Amino acid sequence: MNFPAIITRKKLGHPLSDEQIAAFVKGAADGSVPDYQLAALLMAIRLNGMDARETTTLTMEMARSGDMLHPDVGGVPVDKHSTGGVGDTTTLVLVPLCAACGAKIAKMSGRGLGHTGGTVDKMESIGMKTDLPEADFLRQIREIGCAVIGQSAELAPADKTLYALRDTTSTVDSLPLIASSIMSKKLASGAQGIVLDVKVGSGAIMPTYEGSLELARAMVEIGTRAGRHVSALLTGMNEPLGSYVGNRLEVKEAIDILRGKSAGPLLTVSLCLGAQLLIASGIVKTPAEGESMLLKALGDGSGLEKLRQMISYQGGDGSVCDHPERLAEAPIVRDVPAPGDGCVSHMDTAKLGYASQELGAGRKQKTDAIDPRVGFIMRCRVGDQMRAGQPLCTVYAARETDFERARAMILEAISLSHDPVEREKLLYALVTSDGVQTF
Ligand code: URA
Ligand code: CA
Repeated sequence: MNFPAIITRKKLGHPLSDEQIAAFVKGAADGSVPDYQLAALLMAIRLNGMDARETTTLTMEMARSGDMLHPDVGGVPVDKHSTGGVGDTTTLVLVPLCAACGAKIAKMSGRGLGHTGGTVDKMESIGMKTDLPEADFLRQIREIGCAVIGQSAELAPADKTLYALRDTTSTVDSLPLIASSIMSKKLASGAQGIVLDVKVGSGAIMPTYEGSLELARAMVEIGTRAGRHVSALLTGMNEPLGSYVGNRLEVKEAIDILRGKSAGPLLTVSLCLGAQLLIASGIVKTPAEGESMLLKALGDGSGLEKLRQMISYQGGDGSVCDHPERLAEAPIVRDVPAPGDGCVSHMDTAKLGYASQELGAGRKQKTDAIDPRVGFIMRCRVGDQMRAGQPLCTVYAARETDFERARAMILEAISLSHDPVEREKLLYALVTSDGVQTF
């Protein structure tokens, strides 16, 4: 295959043939095409797009670039995936709740990327193992109903190569590249039910509603054509979803919610996604039924017990569920006060994510170690009236200089106005194979 000719074709805006796409994926998976040619083609795809046929072919080729699993978990294997957010730990809330309701969740999660956090990093921050051998992963799901692991090398290896290149060549924000990256992994993992959380707003991979809707529709169509039950919720990322940003801090918020000590937007979105997972599992028929079942598991403590089991099964200390305050400790804990009176009118959520990265909660380079202790707790949401000196957030930092840099970024990221401002929208739409339902 003449690879420069494939790059030329996409550069000129023409569709690639199935054979050309197969050559691209094979070259990424086995290393036979050098990174500079892969990167040139990625940029041509980012600039000129792909049609539905090309995107489907790309996804299926990427899924088949490694193992295709058919996991025996004693039920319908289901998974949920988010396009990435800030203060967004729905997984650690909804996985235990859904497992307590009888679902079989075989979840593959990612690490933090750019300004977004990743479940694998959060779990490792409390000593959990996320690289379970396949047999242990499956046994855990059969025994307790849920397990969450990182991406294995055998699954969609083409995505591993392409993702790393995209991250460093400004080609992440491309619909065909995102859709194929996410869906290839979900199809390869053997999930029969797939629930997608597609973020909308200043902290989302696709900041506009239209872009997010188009992405959601593309992924639902690909999954449905592959014979899976897929639904996508479009949810708000114009401010951090939960109040806690940072690895241990986010685990603490999830535990607080499962203990019934906290609620708010993180719980609302978790219930909504969880209800879709219960529908995909065949356990309930409607979102309302799903939510009431999940609320029961929240109220009777069975969700908290599932999290405790999952933590112990995966090598962590389950007693953290009784002492979540241990997860909020750092050398420096200090407020960032509001610079003046005003209503919180806008948040640059990506910038808040980068502030947590600056503190050490995320990586700037692939090899960086993360500091599990650091991050911040938001003390305001869009629409809140603040007085000068009142805390906008409380920062958990390792060093004085880190605190100062994060403080400056947080102050830039949060705008105050004299006029009152409406609260941010949380739930935008549900996309299924039947169409789009807006809220
Ligand atoms: N998450 C993924 O796994 N891939 C993308 O391209 C974006 C978010
Ligand atoms: Ca994520």
